[in-house]
Amino acid sequence: MKIIEAKNYDHMSHIAANIIASQLILCPKTVLGLATGSSPEGIYKELVEKYNNGDIDFSQVVSFNLDEYCGLPREHEQSYYYYQNNHLFSKVNISKENTHLPNGNVDDINAECENYEKMIAESGGVDIQILGIGHTGHIGFNEPSDSFAKMTHSVDLEQVTIEANARFFNSIDEVPKKAVTMGIGTIMRAKKLVMVVSGKDKAEILYKSVTGEVTPKVPATILQFHKDVTIVADADAISILKEKAPHMISK
Ligand code: F6R
Repeated sequence: MKIIEAKNYDHMSHIAANIIASQLILCPKTVLGLATGSSPEGIYKELVEKYNNGDIDFSQVVSFNLDEYCGLPREHEQSYYYYQNNHLFSKVNISKENTHLPNGNVDDINAECENYEKMIAESGGVDIQILGIGHTGHIGFNEPSDSFAKMTHSVDLEQVTIEANARFFNSIDEVPKKAVTMGIGTIMRAKKLVMVVSGKDKAEILYKSVTGEVTPKVPATILQFHKDVTIVADADAISILKEKAPHMISK
């Protein structure tokens, strides 16, 4: 596990975007795993800039998003479909048919999850997966649980997560209570993981995730077992780790 300290949010995004860009340069046919939320927004902004400068090309890229809410139409501004389109797909030359998000609005959610997992496998698997982390230690929408979910599945969101995501909606009552997410197994099968973490409110969970006992009660602790994970954290998010376990941070 490589942990990189960034000065601030922009610096964090810059470093992570450079990691993704170098992957796309070295392997134009990359299968890219995408995350939504505030943490990776800066990455997408930088990737779009690099694309506009002619530094990277998305024409052969295939993408799979980590998750999607259940019960929000795709056109809803807070759906992850809308987010990903708005922040990346509509701004680069990725083929629409190469982009994938789980559909949280189908009658047979189990069939949808199985099919999503099958499509990832048939694409050859995710080469590089972008991740954020929730206050509960969730990755994707894998909330604390008694076991690590192996596959894409539907979940009930934790109250803390609903409260954290309420900032994007007019009221907390509008926040969906369910989502579809890649499983911990799906995430761990990605060849490389790049996690971005920003803000004081993430300092404690980042510290716990990289130093604590590996347990499904703190899902992100599983990352300790991945062979190629890079965490880029800004000064606020890394503060507790820096104080208690400075040796873990790359020099
Ligand atoms: C989003 C996702 C979530 C977020 C996490 C942090 O696709 O899977 O795990 O990464 O909830 O969200 P932000 O970045 O908004 O703090």
